[in-house]
Amino acid sequence: MTAVNPTDWRDTSLSRLLKTRLPIMATGLQWLANADYVAAAVNSGMMGFITAASFADTAALRDEIQRCRELLGTRAFGVNVSMLPKLLPGDRTEEIMALIADERIAVVETSGRDPTAYVAALKASGCRVVHKVPQLRHALKAEAAGVDAVTLVGAECGGHPGESPVGTLVQGALAARALRIPFALGGGIACGEQIVAALALGAAGVAIGTRFLVADEIPAHADYKQRLVEAQPGDTTLILSSVRNSMRVLRNDTTATVQALEGDGVNDIQQLLPYVRGTLGKAAYASGDWRQGALSAGQGVGLMTRSASLAEIIAELEQEADTALARLGIGDGGV
Ligand SMILES: Cc1cc2nc3c(=O)[nH]c(=O)nc-3n(C[C@H](O)[C@H](O)[C@H](O)COP(=O)(O)O)c2cc1C
Repeated sequence: MTAVNPTDWRDTSLSRLLKTRLPIMATGLQWLANADYVAAAVNSGMMGFITAASFADTAALRDEIQRCRELLGTRAFGVNVSMLPKLLPGDRTEEIMALIADERIAVVETSGRDPTAYVAALKASGCRVVHKVPQLRHALKAEAAGVDAVTLVGAECGGHPGESPVGTLVQGALAARALRIPFALGGGIACGEQIVAALALGAAGVAIGTRFLVADEIPAHADYKQRLVEAQPGDTTLILSSVRNSMRVLRNDTTATVQALEGDGVNDIQQLLPYVRGTLGKAAYASGDWRQGALSAGQGVGLMTRSASLAEIIAELEQEADTALARLGIGDGGV
């Protein structure tokens, strides 16, 4: 079966897998994708992911899962588990995966490391596993490990584009030729026309982070969201390639300092950590002072014109996708 129903772009192998109205995932956002945001994503027709890395311990994550259940009733939602090598010691992946299985979470988004060790137990608990990667070879490995779907992110993405970033358009075409399981495409996707482009490439859906950062439900200060609205695509930049942990972030005082140090040959995370530690980002979201901290953001910032509710943003994306299809002579603009 093809990935997308030719008479309805919303009906794809991914939306069927996730049982969502739309083939769109509002993927993990550290400090920001909390129960309120995830509930709004689900209520807008997407799959949303509470981001485990935002919580100090599994008890706090369990409380947030409970809060999401209270907001959503029986409607399904997901949890994001970023398994990237931690900047600070301590790996809680094992405990978090056990909690996800125990809580019978519908979907887990894994990222950062090979998920093979966890796939069988998660699937046995009824959880769907979507693994996110910046390189096709890792997607193929995850497919062999039995994940249900993969997400490929391209160089434009907020967060981690990998150490040899590949543009999203190339990433999608390569993935379509190589993968047998459904895949979502992410990285710079911030309007409906790009969703249609991703589906045309062979993706079964899209993964979006940056476009939703200006949503009313994102728990961050209005000044930060206003900066994102004003930002141009060139206002993001890559840092931390010196420690093989490249991140696309909003250009600010911190990125200037870190890039100067990296330019001088600093490649020791201990020396860079005082500028990039996650708690600085958390403080920036709360205060609105976007000039400090490593604040993940993708090139899609250039496509955001205002803050709005997630439901309004989704309505806009759907309208743009319908218009793009009508422009191609496919559908009547309102399929
Ligand atoms: C502010 C922010 C925080 C993020 N935090 C995480 C995270 O904790 N775990 C993760 O797997 N991905 C994280 N990501 C990556 C997103 O889930 C997603 O892959 C990416 O945003 C897609 O590209 P886009 O930003 O161009 O839409 C983050 C992205 C942003 C913008």
